Order: sequence, then structure tokens, then C-alpha cells
Amino acid sequence: MFSFSKKDQATGEVTERQLDDANIPAHVAIIMDGNGRWAQQRHLPRIAGHKQGMNTVKTVAKAASHLGVKVLTLYAFSTENWKRPTAEVNYLMKLPVDFFGTFVPDLIKNNIRVKVMGYTDQLPAATQKAVKDAIADTAECTGMVLNFALNYGGRAEIVTAVQTLAQQVQAGTLDPAAIDDAAIDQQLMTSDLGELRDPDLLIRTSGEERLSNFMLWQVAYSEFVFTQQHWPDFDQTALEEAIYEYQQRHRRYGGLASEPEKK
Ligand code: FPP
Repeated sequence: MFSFSKKDQATGEVTERQLDDANIPAHVAIIMDGNGRWAQQRHLPRIAGHKQGMNTVKTVAKAASHLGVKVLTLYAFSTENWKRPTAEVNYLMKLPVDFFGTFVPDLIKNNIRVKVMGYTDQLPAATQKAVKDAIADTAECTGMVLNFALNYGGRAEIVTAVQTLAQQVQAGTLDPAAIDDAAIDQQLMTSDLGELRDPDLLIRTSGEERLSNFMLWQVAYSEFVFTQQHWPDFDQTALEEAIYEYQQRHRRYGGLASEPEKK
């Protein structure tokens, strides 16, 4: 059992809560939203929100690893984020360079392995190098996988998978009737995560309640938790609170509540 204290922001009332350490979600995915609004509230430029958001990534990665999460997937840059002003895109592309440049020793100390999913060949050379180096430097780590979705889009991922399968059918190496869930899983950018490929818990910060093209196939049976905090304000307690909420849910995978639950 993990204990944590939750403080009600309005009343100041503190509630002691306990997490069941046998029911920690193995794969947690987060849509990190609200960096811009966090900055705006402080009369700061949007990029100040992204910088603070990067610090939150460090805090939350360590917290998730300590709680026993096996995969933490973070939506850092979508295939649609290129539409933002050039200065903001350039800053977002520099963030992985800063992040890995300062945080890789801590990741190694925490036995955290870096993975990246997305169309990384379209990223600037310096970003690609930072990512490749971080993956290589943490390759021996056997603990949590910190999976960054960078230039990632759920629909693009499915389109690429369908194209690959179609090519195999055309080449005569794949029978269309043999295309099942597993065949599609194998073509997605999460295939190397094996049994951990699908998020158990999806968190979105900052009050928006939509998927924004994130892991469309993989979240079929995920539990969704939406929080009000902007991402730069998210912290260990907020993560514990989201996991607490997850632990109150009953996952049925399309079956009935009375049936034994699939774990
Ligand atoms: C959404 O907030 C956030 C992003 C598009 C960028 C997320 C990136 C980080 C949190 C930093 C990532 C760190 C690394 C190491 C890559 P928004 O800008 O859409 O906020 P808004 O909706 O309030 O405008």
C-alpha cells in the first residue's frame, strides 16, 4: 500500500488516501495539456509554459517509476503541432535536446529506459540526435520505459500500418483473412512494448476532454481520467490521485461486472 495526502484546494481539507500497490496501472499515457494557459495566467510567453512543462516531465517520470508504473507514454508533439507559430515549434523541437542533455544521468540512476514513437525522421537533426543518444544511453536500463510520442499521430500510425499490411497482401505474403487485432498491433509504434502496448490509464490535464489523435487504437479499453490542473502544475500527488481514481473503476472489457476481470 502507498499512502498519500490529498489537499482540497478550495477548503484546504487534507484527506489521507491509500493506493493498492497490486493494482498500479502498468501503462500510463498522458496528454500533457495546458502549458500555454499556465504561461498566460502568469503573463509569460507560451514557451515559458513548455519549459515548466519539461520540468514536470522530470518529476512525473520519477514518481511513476517509484510507484511501479512499467510504461509511461507522454504526448510531447503531435503530427498536427507543426501548425503552431514557427518560434513555438522551434522551441518545442529544442526541448528534447535540453531534457535529455540534463536528465539522462537521472534516468539511468532510476533505471528508466527511453523509447520514442513517432515520425522521428522528420524532426530537426539536433532533435533526432538527442533522441538517439538518449535511447542508446539508457538501453541497458530494465525499469520503467519512458515513451515519448514525438511527431506522433494516431491516424497517421494506423494509415502507415494499413499501407504495410496492404503491401504484404500485394506481395502475396499475407492472406487478407489473416489480418486480425494482433496483425495490426504488430504494425503499430507500440509493438515493441509487447503485452504492455495498450495504456491502462489515460490522463489528460487542463480540463479538455478529447483524445486529439492520441493512440486511437491502443486506448480501446483504457480508463480515462481528466484533471483540471495545467500540465506545469501536475505533480506526484496529482499522479497518485489519478491512479487512485483508476483503482476505483471496474474494468469489464465489454463483459459483465460479475465476470472475472481480465488483468
Ligand atoms: C500542450 O499544451 C503541450 C504541448 C503541445 C507540448 C507538450 C510538451 C511538453 C510538456 C514538454 C515536453 C518535454 C519533452 C522532454 C519533450 P498547449 O501548448 O496546447 O497548452 P494550451 O492548450 O494551454 O495552449
